[in-house]
Amino acid sequence: MKVIVCKDYQEVSEKSAEIVAQVMKDKPNAVLGLATGSTPEGMYAKLVEMNRKGEIDFSDITTVNLDEYFPISPDNDQSYRYFMNKNLFDRVNIDKSRTNVPNGAANDGEAEAARYEAFVRSLGGADIQVLGIGRNGHIAFNEPDVELVPVTHVTGLTPDTIDANARFFASADEVPTHALTMGMGTILSAKKIIILANGKGKHNAVMKMLKGTVTTMCPASFLNLHDDVTLVVDEECYNG
Ligand code: F6R
Repeated sequence: MKVIVCKDYQEVSEKSAEIVAQVMKDKPNAVLGLATGSTPEGMYAKLVEMNRKGEIDFSDITTVNLDEYFPISPDNDQSYRYFMNKNLFDRVNIDKSRTNVPNGAANDGEAEAARYEAFVRSLGGADIQVLGIGRNGHIAFNEPDVELVPVTHVTGLTPDTIDANARFFASADEVPTHALTMGMGTILSAKKIIILANGKGKHNAVMKMLKGTVTTMCPASFLNLHDDVTLVVDEECYNG
């Protein structure tokens, strides 16, 4: 795994945006695999800026997001669809019909997971997949466990995650109990992967991943099976 150590979050955002921008310049109809969460927000802001300056063009780009709560309405301001529209899609010249997030409003979650998996595979996987990492080493909603599901699937949220998210919803009943998520196999089908991390809180997870071995108890460690992964990390996270 290649490692780029940056002085701070700002530099993590700039470096990762540059890597994504290069893929877009090399292939104007590239498929971008995208993540939500606080880590890539700065990268999205940078990509918006580059688009406004005319440095990058989204008009032929297709996107596939990693995950979405289930069930959730795409209009809910906690949905990952809403996050993506707000942080990127509504701010660049992308064709919205080519932006893909698992459908949190689908009637049948399993059918939606199978549809999404087939769709990502039909694209040949993402040209670049952007990832964040959880403090426990999770990737998308693939949480540490004795077994992992390789393909897109419905997964239950842990009571901890439901508790942690309750504050963002009008009432506890509204917190989704499940999520639709790409599996590690779907993620590894990307041609190139960048994983972003900043802050001390992610240090242990990042070190576990950088050890180079593979364990289901640290889903991020599966990235060691791929030969084009770059970690973009700030000094605080890297040095711990
Ligand atoms: C987001 C996702 C999550 C986050 C991870 C880190 O689509 O799948 O796995 O990447 O939870 O979140 P932040 O960036 O908020 O620390």
